[in-house]
Amino acid sequence: MAKIFEPTSINGMALKNRLIRSATWENMADDKGHMTDKLFKVYEELAKGGVGMILTGYAFVVEEEQPNPGMMGIYDDTFIAEYQQLTTMVHQHDSRIVAQIAYGGSQTGYPAEGRLIWGPSAVADLATAVVPTEMTQDDITTLVHAFGAAAKRAKAAGFDGVQMHGAHGYLLSQFLSPYYNRRSDQYGGSIENRARILIEVYEQIRKQVGDDYPVMIKINAEDYFEQGLVFDDCRYVCHQLAQRGIDAIEITGGTFASGDKIPARAKINTSEKEAYHAQYAIQLADELDIPIITVGGLRSPEVIELLLETSRVALFSLSRPLLSEPNLPNRWQSGDRQRAKCVSCNGCLQNRPGGNVCILNLKKGN
Ligand SMILES: Cc1cc2nc3c(=O)[nH]c(=O)nc-3n(C[C@H](O)[C@H](O)[C@H](O)COP(=O)(O)O)c2cc1C
Repeated sequence: MAKIFEPTSINGMALKNRLIRSATWENMADDKGHMTDKLFKVYEELAKGGVGMILTGYAFVVEEEQPNPGMMGIYDDTFIAEYQQLTTMVHQHDSRIVAQIAYGGSQTGYPAEGRLIWGPSAVADLATAVVPTEMTQDDITTLVHAFGAAAKRAKAAGFDGVQMHGAHGYLLSQFLSPYYNRRSDQYGGSIENRARILIEVYEQIRKQVGDDYPVMIKINAEDYFEQGLVFDDCRYVCHQLAQRGIDAIEITGGTFASGDKIPARAKINTSEKEAYHAQYAIQLADELDIPIITVGGLRSPEVIELLLETSRVALFSLSRPLLSEPNLPNRWQSGDRQRAKCVSCNGCLQNRPGGNVCILNLKKGN
């Protein structure tokens, strides 16, 4: 029976335990997406805190397209040297670090005027009302290559793998969603067509990094709005990617337009509310022979252990609990098994100028 602090691996990447820091936009990079001292320290605290693997905040792959302030970039080779310092530091603390790479699109917190924002179709974003420009075949080819180049850069910078951001209402997940994708060409209509761009991005990434390098995806089980992605279609995409050699899949759900089912749900204050996407991860872990990661509302070691004991879900990803307590994995491992202090107030999502930090810690003056 697997345990939280038992090692495992993803395509040769050795992990000392089953805990992952899920991708978390820290809002601390500079205007161009470059590292700052403050951001470096966030990663240092995480690496020291005992987590097995750290997913970076979503890093943008096209220079002109930055969906939110303070995001990390990975759109050209000037990033390689600074990320080498980051990955070296994380490795010194016996943790692993994987770059999450993304194209945001119309779900953007920046003013849209004067910017070219791509989408599958010119449909107003349900959360921001921004109307993107429908991508041409040339645009799609450009984007696929931008993802591939970003992955190659990540490998050169010493990241242990890459994760495609295919979730939460950003561009790749919009292609999967019948609401946003109204295309009548080979990228729209059936789920085979709506998934095509994700498969092309995956294959381009694989071409750039080779078979021995971990490539993963974060994907919505469901969008939780009318005409959004449903689980049967998510299953189809996961099976297709697994057949083509993807190394791990992180199952999430929702967008900023999903009401109380946004990806970071509020008030996870009982164990019954925890692990709110786990049912989908359990099913996919039964069906697929690759590590499946669950994310969303994990707060107590007992809940994680129960999943480890009763399902094939391999890894457990946490965002907000590690914003408030980067040392949480060490704390649990040392025998203090109290649930995470995070109360899921979502104060960390208020886009504060000082960065996306835990406001409970701020109040305590930490
Ligand atoms: C401040 C903040 C920033 C986030 N940034 C990202 C991101 O860059 N990429 C991503 O895939 N998810 C992002 N998420 C979602 C988390 O990775 C995670 O899926 C969600 O918060 C649920 O997990 P939790 O209950 O452990 O917080 C973010 C969440 C928060 C609170």
